[in-house]
Amino acid sequence: MQKCDKVYAGGRKRNLSNGKFCASAKGMVIIMDNKAMYKLSYGLFVLCAAENGKDNACIINTAVQVTTEPNRITIAVNKGNLTHDMIANTGVFTVSVLDASTTFELIKNFGFQSGRNADKFSGIPCKRTSNGTMRLEENSSAFISAKVISSTDLGTHTLFLAEVTDCEVLSDKEPLTYAYYQSNIKPKPERQKKKGFVCTVCGYFHEGDELPEDFVCPICGHGASDFEAAEV
Ligand SMILES: Cc1cc2nc3c(=O)[nH]c(=O)nc-3n(C[C@H](O)[C@H](O)[C@H](O)COP(=O)(O)O)c2cc1C
Repeated sequence: MQKCDKVYAGGRKRNLSNGKFCASAKGMVIIMDNKAMYKLSYGLFVLCAAENGKDNACIINTAVQVTTEPNRITIAVNKGNLTHDMIANTGVFTVSVLDASTTFELIKNFGFQSGRNADKFSGIPCKRTSNGTMRLEENSSAFISAKVISSTDLGTHTLFLAEVTDCEVLSDKEPLTYAYYQSNIKPKPERQKKKGFVCTVCGYFHEGDELPEDFVCPICGHGASDFEAAEV
C-alpha cells in the first residue's frame, strides 16, 4: 500500500478522474484499479466431463496446481455451465492443456456454446481417459484427470479441489496462455469505418455524408472541388 499524503475524512471513498476510486484508512491510500487483475497469468484448458453416456467440455482458464504432494488441482467452474453440473454429479473430470496451435474455432466450439444445445466433441479427435472422461488428441500438450475431493460454493462459481489420478505429457508444444489467446487468437473487433471526404491537396478528412458546395478546407483553404469521397 502507498503512504497517503492527504488523509481523507473517515475512510470514505473518493472518485478519481481516471475512473478508479481511492479510499483512505488510517493514513493509507487504497486505489482500486481492477486492471491490476489483468496482470495475473493463466493457461487455457478444455475441461472435460461425462455423465450418463454424454460427453461434454468447456473452456476454462482457472486450472491451478495447488499442492504437489498429494498432487492436487483446483478448477473454478460457473454454476450455469453444463460441465459444472456433470462434474458435481460424477466427481471426476479431465483437463486438456491447450497448446499455442489452438484455433479460435476450437475455443468457440468449447467456450462459446453450451453442451445443452450441441455435441461439442463431434469431429474433434479425442480419446477416453481412465476416469471415463475425454481428452483432446490435437492442440493439447498434456492432460490431467482428477477426482473431486471437495467443492466450495463461491456464489457464481464452484471451486472444485481434486486429486490428480492420471496425467500425461502429449507434446513439447508451448502451452497456450490466456494472454497469447487475447493478443493472437481472439479476433479483434472490426473498427467501424468513417464515411466522408478527403482533401486531395493536404489529406484533411471531413466526416459526413455530404460536403457543402461552399466548403473550404480548414487546413489548406482549398474548396469542395478538391475533395473526393473516402472511407477511413
Ligand atoms: C477464454 C475463455 C475462458 C473461460 N474460462 C472459464 C472458467 O475459468 N470457468 C468457467 O466456468 N467458464 C469459463 N469460460 C466459459 C465457458 O467455457 C462457457 O460458458 C461454455 O460455453 C460452457 O459450456 P457448457 O455449458 O457446455 O459447460 C471461459 C470461456 C472462454 C472463451
